[in-house]
Amino acid sequence: MLVVDLGGQYSQLIARRVREARVYSELVPHETPVEALLARRPRAIVLSGGPASVYADGAPRVDTRVFQLGVPTLGICYGMQLMAHELGGAVERTGASEFGRTDLQVEGGALFAGLQLEQTVWMSHRDSVTAAPAGARVTAGSPSTPIAAFEDEGRGFYGVQFHPEVVHTASGQEMLKNFLYNVAGAAPTWTPAAVIEEQVESVRAQVGSARVLCALSGGVDSAVAALLVHKALRDQLTCVFVDHGLLRKDEARQVVETFGGHFHVPLVHVEAQQRFLERLRGVGDPEEKRRRVGEEFIRVFEEEARRLGDVRYLVQGTLYSDVIESGGLGGAQDGVAATIKSHHNVGGLPDEMDFQLVEPLRLLFKDEVRRVGEELGLPERMVWRQPFPGPGLAIRIIGEVTEERLKTLREADAILQDEIRRAGLYRDLWQSFAVLPAIRSVGVQGDERTYAYPIVIRAVTSDDAMTADWARLPYDLLETISSRIINEIPAVNRVCLDLSSKPPATIEWE
Ligand code: XMP
Repeated sequence: MLVVDLGGQYSQLIARRVREARVYSELVPHETPVEALLARRPRAIVLSGGPASVYADGAPRVDTRVFQLGVPTLGICYGMQLMAHELGGAVERTGASEFGRTDLQVEGGALFAGLQLEQTVWMSHRDSVTAAPAGARVTAGSPSTPIAAFEDEGRGFYGVQFHPEVVHTASGQEMLKNFLYNVAGAAPTWTPAAVIEEQVESVRAQVGSARVLCALSGGVDSAVAALLVHKALRDQLTCVFVDHGLLRKDEARQVVETFGGHFHVPLVHVEAQQRFLERLRGVGDPEEKRRRVGEEFIRVFEEEARRLGDVRYLVQGTLYSDVIESGGLGGAQDGVAATIKSHHNVGGLPDEMDFQLVEPLRLLFKDEVRRVGEELGLPERMVWRQPFPGPGLAIRIIGEVTEERLKTLREADAILQDEIRRAGLYRDLWQSFAVLPAIRSVGVQGDERTYAYPIVIRAVTSDDAMTADWARLPYDLLETISSRIINEIPAVNRVCLDLSSKPPATIEWE
């Protein structure tokens, strides 16, 4: 199914909901010519919402031939209004805007099959459809919007003024399923197993018998990408794991045991801890730390790549959200994108390292990556790992990174993680970690005065890291964490809790 993006804030969400119904979907810009849409052979099309009015100058439109394709089409919010406008109905600013939860009275129709006649739906609109397109019948209305849904079964046009994709529309997912399964005849076949099969085929077709390199970071994306490629190519793949010594306690060992030990993936484990410490000596500025870690990473990786000889392909864990951000699937359909994104760990490889990219996750959203990881047998700990920054603990130690301070932070962080997992809260938190500030304070232990570091507990909830709230951790959990950290780590005599949301604070301290 193709979701034509008309600028709405929920366009990506529509694509994700459709995939949750196990039907493959892609997001495409509204300017996409009809030939390009047809080339994707869609079973169904959704026209998304959008902030414009159909009468506004420059309001987003679709190629009108979209309505002659004979492909079942569902217009949502602005998409519905655009349909009405293009197909001979009417759209007006009636003065009856609706925002938020709204009662819907259903009169019938394929979208609402099997559902109650009274529904709660989520609305967000100023304009309304005041006349359905010729041949369409009105299938639902709300108190201020008599035409809240219409259907023209014969021509395959469906419109809803509300947003079935948001959770506040209680039966929204059922409505989408009705459209997908019953109207468009799409089967729920987009499963993790099917994704794996398809990607294995596609990686084999792309790479043939060439050799492939993958940088493992310990994160879920590179882990799943590596396992997928390994499934396709077995020993043609070599993974390089650069241990920069800035990971959490036991994470390096887990990577080596899981990949080298359990999955028998050819693995080069580079123990570069001292090199990184050397590069970080005397550096206090956060951006300079980031730069040095990134640069050293590339140097080490490059050295290993040269050592391995003739390797032309590089695996990268690019996700579908990155693809959408950089302009969609577009022409680079075969998975060979031109650029390596700079935020990625191997970003900024020198030009003369002329790799072609293998991107087996470029069709997947993050939650799908995790499901594929589970299906491939990746340990739960790796599949559900919270996001972790590339420069690792280096940006959670304020000021200079030394071996001693790394050890202190790593131990404190391990206690924090341990207790959060034990309390069953790990997956509810976007991130939870310890921070080591560059100050010391006075304490008393036994009869002795101490002068030692504090540890800051940072735990946040978030959907996408753009905004975040500090997590309300239970007091008894905080007490356990605090007393364990102070009792077990001699260099620490105080534990503090960070109560800042983002904005104005950031999630990380550096
Ligand atoms: P902030 O601290 O800006 O972080 O609220 C937002 C998200 O980005 C992660 N982060 C990084 N990830 N390299 C990374 O790979 C970095 O330098 C970096 N800095 C922040 C952070 O952990 C959070 O998830």
